[in-house]
Amino acid sequence: MEVLINIAVLASGSGTNLQALIDAPDLGGDIGLVLSDRADATALDRARSAGIPTKVLPWDDYGSRSKFSIAIREEVEKRDVELVVLAGFMRVLGNELVGAFSNQILNIHPSLLPAFPGAHAVDQALEHGVKLTGVTVHFVDEEVDHGPIIAQRAVPVLSDDDRDSLHARLQVEEHDLYPKVVAALARGDITVEGRKVRWD
Ligand code: GAR
Repeated sequence: MEVLINIAVLASGSGTNLQALIDAPDLGGDIGLVLSDRADATALDRARSAGIPTKVLPWDDYGSRSKFSIAIREEVEKRDVELVVLAGFMRVLGNELVGAFSNQILNIHPSLLPAFPGAHAVDQALEHGVKLTGVTVHFVDEEVDHGPIIAQRAVPVLSDDDRDSLHARLQVEEHDLYPKVVAALARGDITVEGRKVRWD
């Protein structure tokens, strides 16, 4: 029988990446929890529709990154989570969580890191006038959008692009790439040495 790893997805917004993970035919993992910092996140509706347990931890209830990160750690430890997948989770996590889940937390970001980290990557790529941008899946460390890079896909910027048109094309790549990375991790096909990530 196939062994499924236990996954928690953290999401703050619309959750289209969460949906891609839910719909993936061979994820190699079981999404046992969707956690959000926002009670109104559409991602939570997607989870409920798929029968996945949800949890809301409002940032304002904690007041510090450290307390917020401990609360998340407690939720994922309670459920024996082996992989934490950030899918549009717009809070920076502290060492209380990242240190306990070293190379077990993934993030997806709409740029070719290290270009344009942070919350406004698509706008910044357009403002900067780059001809090529893309998406990055990386392990999470304590710095914003910084940990070891697992996979990247390039996406050309078109002369008439605005934020919505470019983000839509980036998301096509995100939805294809993220489940593939999770599946490769679940199979044990990915190894990490410092910042270098190898696919076997
Ligand atoms: C995605 O495009 C993701 O790359 C981005 O938020 C969007 C969430 O979309 N994340 C970041 O910018 C992280 N720095 P979704 O809620 O539809 O999955």
